[in-house]
Amino acid sequence: MVEKISRVFARQVLDSRGNPTVECEVHTSSGFSRAMVPSGASTGVHEALELRDNDHCFLGKSVTMAVTNVNTAIAKALVGLDVTDQRVVDNALLALDGTPNKSRLGANAILSASMAACRESARVQGIPLHEFIGFLAANDRFVLPCPASNLINGGAHAGNELDIQEFMVMPLGAKSFAEGIQIVAEIYQTLKKKIVAKYGKQAVNVGDEGGFAPPLKEVREPIELILSAVQELGYSDVVRLALDSAASGFYADEAYTLAGKRLSGPELMEVYFDLKKTYDVYSFEDPFAEDDWLNWSDFTAEVGNVAQVVGDDLLVSNPVRIRKALMEEACNALLLKVNQIGTVSEALEAASLARKNGWKVMVSHRSGETEDSFIADLAVGLGCGQIKSGAPCRSERTAKYNQLLRIEEGLEARGQTNYFK
Ligand code: PGA
Ligand code: ZN
Repeated sequence: MVEKISRVFARQVLDSRGNPTVECEVHTSSGFSRAMVPSGASTGVHEALELRDNDHCFLGKSVTMAVTNVNTAIAKALVGLDVTDQRVVDNALLALDGTPNKSRLGANAILSASMAACRESARVQGIPLHEFIGFLAANDRFVLPCPASNLINGGAHAGNELDIQEFMVMPLGAKSFAEGIQIVAEIYQTLKKKIVAKYGKQAVNVGDEGGFAPPLKEVREPIELILSAVQELGYSDVVRLALDSAASGFYADEAYTLAGKRLSGPELMEVYFDLKKTYDVYSFEDPFAEDDWLNWSDFTAEVGNVAQVVGDDLLVSNPVRIRKALMEEACNALLLKVNQIGTVSEALEAASLARKNGWKVMVSHRSGETEDSFIADLAVGLGCGQIKSGAPCRSERTAKYNQLLRIEEGLEARGQTNYFK
């Protein structure tokens, strides 16, 4: 089927932190679809460029230049193209920008159009978005992902002194996504009671990703708190821990400063070995800084066969960085964030490259999110089995989890359900 794009239109809207972001509409003769772009706080230096105005509006964060780029150059390039051909749409966007990091038009401008076109394509074909993404990824086995849910926030996402950014639980032993998210929500509410009892009411204010941000410093404290909630509920056999250190955030002058102590890469590695041994951590994301290749490789050589080592800032969802990481054997899983790379096609290419080489893929939100649930369909369409979308709290986080509940219900009705395995 061929369905031509008739109009492309963007506007400035707000994200979950109250900062401006781009929303785009892609129209065809029968209707239109929208997409909104997320934004990171602990962004990798190698990410595609997020174009901001840097003037007095919204304290420099307005995105009117990106919006204008959509409404002028991008609209001109896309109108008349077949919306059902994602590669053609994305190639037109890439050719128009012409820079390696999308610095001319802005990755936020480009991605908004790429995602909206993808959603409109599914709509005109009368199929769910995850099914169209599955078609693009040559995957027909739709898998509901296991959530990696961030219950305690630190680093750049919280006002406490925790250096490690995310303390997550993964209900790997759940039998369905619905059961998994129930387990996560029960842990979250139990954890809340425990934090109030120990640190008072002000300690359950939440961070950017909906996790609590209690006044903690040492890395073991949040883990112990989470595990005590898990144990109280009897979920010890069902749930595993996952960490996102976002270590570039506490790396400077060739050292890592963790809980006030300066550590070398190998010393930090010892901390992780200890956490692995004591708590059987399932997944370590960004354990080292984004260009500290040697420590990444040494760590993966040590734990890669018993734990997931996930590259986020290291890889920035970029096939070029993924190829380097494959050569260096620096990690064994890709964190996939569509706005790090800037088009749907390139994100799918990154996922495919990772999986072809035996890596796991975890689809991810950003700390600055919107109510757009695109990544829920992306995770199912890829069939990659893992998604990170924050705590089961704050609507920009639950929008993704709720969409996954709907998708699971739809697949169940057709007898096609698969949960992350
Ligand atoms: P960010 O954080 O969106 O602020 O980059 C998420 C992450 O590091 O995974
Ligand atoms: Zn990360």
